[in-house]
Amino acid sequence: MARGPARLQFRVQLRFVTEEQLFGPGPLSPPTPQSLRLDVHPAGEEADATVTDADGVCVFKCLLNRDTECCRVGKESILITLGYNSALLKFESHADLSSFSNTLKRCRNEKKELSVFNQRTEEASAVQYFQFYGCISQQQNMMQDFVRTATYHRAILQNHIDFRDKIVLDVGCGSGILSFFAVQAGARRVYAVEASSVAQYAEMLVKNNHLSDKIIVLPGKIEDISLPEAVDVIISEPMGYMLFNERMLESYLHSKKWLKANGMMFPTFGDIHLAPFSDEQLYMEHYSRANFWYQQCFYGVNLSSLRGAAVDEYFRQPIVDTFDIRILMARTVKYTVNFMDAEEADLHRVEIPFVFQMMQSGLVHGLAFWFDVAFVGSLVTVWLSTAPTEPLTHWYQVRCLLHTPLFAKEGETLSGRVLFVANRRQSYDIQIVALVNQTGFRSGNILDLKNPFFRFA
Ligand SMILES: C[S@@+](CC[C@H](N)C(=O)[O-])C[C@H]1O[C@@H](n2cnc3c(N)ncnc32)[C@H](O)[C@@H]1O
Repeated sequence: MARGPARLQFRVQLRFVTEEQLFGPGPLSPPTPQSLRLDVHPAGEEADATVTDADGVCVFKCLLNRDTECCRVGKESILITLGYNSALLKFESHADLSSFSNTLKRCRNEKKELSVFNQRTEEASAVQYFQFYGCISQQQNMMQDFVRTATYHRAILQNHIDFRDKIVLDVGCGSGILSFFAVQAGARRVYAVEASSVAQYAEMLVKNNHLSDKIIVLPGKIEDISLPEAVDVIISEPMGYMLFNERMLESYLHSKKWLKANGMMFPTFGDIHLAPFSDEQLYMEHYSRANFWYQQCFYGVNLSSLRGAAVDEYFRQPIVDTFDIRILMARTVKYTVNFMDAEEADLHRVEIPFVFQMMQSGLVHGLAFWFDVAFVGSLVTVWLSTAPTEPLTHWYQVRCLLHTPLFAKEGETLSGRVLFVANRRQSYDIQIVALVNQTGFRSGNILDLKNPFFRFA
């Protein structure tokens, strides 16, 4: 079952203000010095805000929703108006105020229409996506990918001088694990932004590890939230299958609006590799699956008219698994996305031209893909690789079949291009065209990266 967004708790000072006092002459008297507790309990699109005193007595309560009238006062206060009276809430820090006002913005439905994320994403896709990441088990799955987590840890700790006393932004913090690594490396403060409900668990871990003064969990999308200051380093783990799936790289690039001019990105760049492969068994397996629809008497029903559609559907699925590198027929072609330079729009349409020099003769059944990312620090560059020659990760490798296999001989060239076109389902449509230059044999395919076939055992 989906959980709601995170509950929040702040220390505040409170002062009630009438309209006369607000608009009357003279300065407002300061809020009562007494520190009170503000609890924010989100419920659907709305949230309850309750202020209690040291004895647990409720002194102020209101509903935060699209009708809430409020405004910021100075750096650390917010004025909420209910009828003729207003409550001035003074937070202990600008970071607390930011966190509360992000919740307010969400409840008031601000930016919903304008948000870059909402514009490029179907609502149903976003709901399903953040429900998935809201599960502790999914966060665990990623954390238990030893190659992934240990490489991030190494990249951050071995480049400790890039983190010492620095302000860090963790984009899509999940459990907050990378934020903890940044603190271990000496970060002064980390803003941990997370859009799914797992933000509340990240907050629990921060509190229980006594790091509330260092890690500030900000529930919300990176595209919608605001930070109280610019940051020195951005850390994130935004890679999906074939690097691009999920379109989270765009959120990572979007977050650069908070990066100082000479700031750093961890990871710094990503390489996607592709190579032609030969795998008769895989190709036949896809046909065999579709052959179910070849039956002319399935409980007395003729299914055969759907066999063509079934073949098309299966061939549209990229295959996620691993393989023996001996199936690869040529050296790889590499395409680099430099996260320091790239902009979100660069990832809306990614065209990768290729020319492969065939190193063995045989049938080319498709193209195999994997990626590496590099963390370029001041002390060392650390690589995280998902190559078939390296220990397996939860990204595996991905293969895209050609509709018709292509015969090519050693020494011949296979040329063409792979085109990734972003869609509103947080994924890509992939078009492949390939040609054996010496014979003129052509093939290709169109695939749906949102719907891969998980083939690993
Ligand atoms: C691949 S997980 C990584 C989690 C964690 N950083 C780690 O390394 O274990 C990506 C996380 O980013 C979050 N996320 C994706 N897009 C986001 C966005 N636009 N704004 C904020 N969080 C986002 C997801 O909910 C998910 O928890």
